[in-house]
Amino acid sequence: MNKTFISFVVFVVTMLVFHNVVFPIMNIKEFSWVMNPYVYYLLIPITLIFINITLRLKPPVSLIALMVWVLGFYFYKYVLYPPIPWTLFITYMVMWSIGTFLYVSQDANTFREFRSPIVKTIIGEYKIARIVLFALLPVLVGWMTYQSIYPTFQEPVELRTVHPAPPATTKVHGKTWVLETSRNPYRVDEQDNYKNSFPFLDADKNEYMKNVTEGGSLFFQNCHYCHGDQLNGIGMFSHVFNPTPANFIDPGTIAMLRESFIFWRVAKGGPGLPNESTPWSSAMPPWEEHLSTEEMWKIILFEYWYTGWHPRTFDTEESYVGQWEKEGKPGGAH
Ligand code: HEC
Repeated sequence: MNKTFISFVVFVVTMLVFHNVVFPIMNIKEFSWVMNPYVYYLLIPITLIFINITLRLKPPVSLIALMVWVLGFYFYKYVLYPPIPWTLFITYMVMWSIGTFLYVSQDANTFREFRSPIVKTIIGEYKIARIVLFALLPVLVGWMTYQSIYPTFQEPVELRTVHPAPPATTKVHGKTWVLETSRNPYRVDEQDNYKNSFPFLDADKNEYMKNVTEGGSLFFQNCHYCHGDQLNGIGMFSHVFNPTPANFIDPGTIAMLRESFIFWRVAKGGPGLPNESTPWSSAMPPWEEHLSTEEMWKIILFEYWYTGWHPRTFDTEESYVGQWEKEGKPGGAH
């Protein structure tokens, strides 16, 4: 057994011990079999000693690079808490990989030393390594495919109603809205007249695009964290929520709903949902606490403009006009 192999084994054993024994103790969520965690903190210095031994065995540069890379992967994947979104994880790992590569390629000698085992494996000088590698690769790909398509958790027995029946009326900022008849006060573009105009660019050309633009700004100030900057429900915080934030591009959300329904959902958020929408609690905030009525309507206007959907309508023109003729224009409405 040569030193390289021993250092590799020591490294693997150290990682396994850390992950299965030391880490669960530090991680308060899972106490595992440990009775008194503090005694086991001793294991951390022991782990460090093992790492020291590994390095003293002077493994080749390629092995050190592999170990450093694995340590980074382990840190971002398991240690860092709360868990980071997938895209951020990829970004960090790319940077970590570049750093590792810079280390091994700092001069011609280390780089030659780094690539020599790789080259030797590929050209067949290390026969066994080559056989193992080429046998393992397809197995690895198969395993990853299996992991990605195999369902990891049980479906809840009770099914959540994603679009519950809304209440007949909803009270927002002291004003009662009848959901049956309420329409978006800023909607003038039923015929897609402004399809070729753009928020921000054409905001000063007409009132409608000005409102869409304001709604867009408000969306990016308040909603894109969860609903995504492409309105596809993949915002930077979306990964930690169950249920996940609604995807407005999807034909199953705003496209099939009435604007008054959306208004009610935006104003009241997750807390305002009726019981049939449990078990999972929604992270959608009740926006009436942060935004004015006008702002919420403008964001909704923007969401439809951006996605190109048209709100679902049931009622007649008359009730739409009636609403705003009676109430007056928003702004002075309450
Ligand atoms: C903290 C994350 C978060 C933020 C910020 C957020 N939402 Fe949501 N939203 C959710 C989640 C999660 C859902 C899905 C669960 C549900 O239906 O309540 C949702 C659902 C919705 C729905 C319901 C869609 C449907 O199909 O019924 C609308 C509309 C909506 N959000 C609009 C907004 C608007 C507008 C903003 C910004 C003012 C916003 N959201 C900000 C998390 C968020």
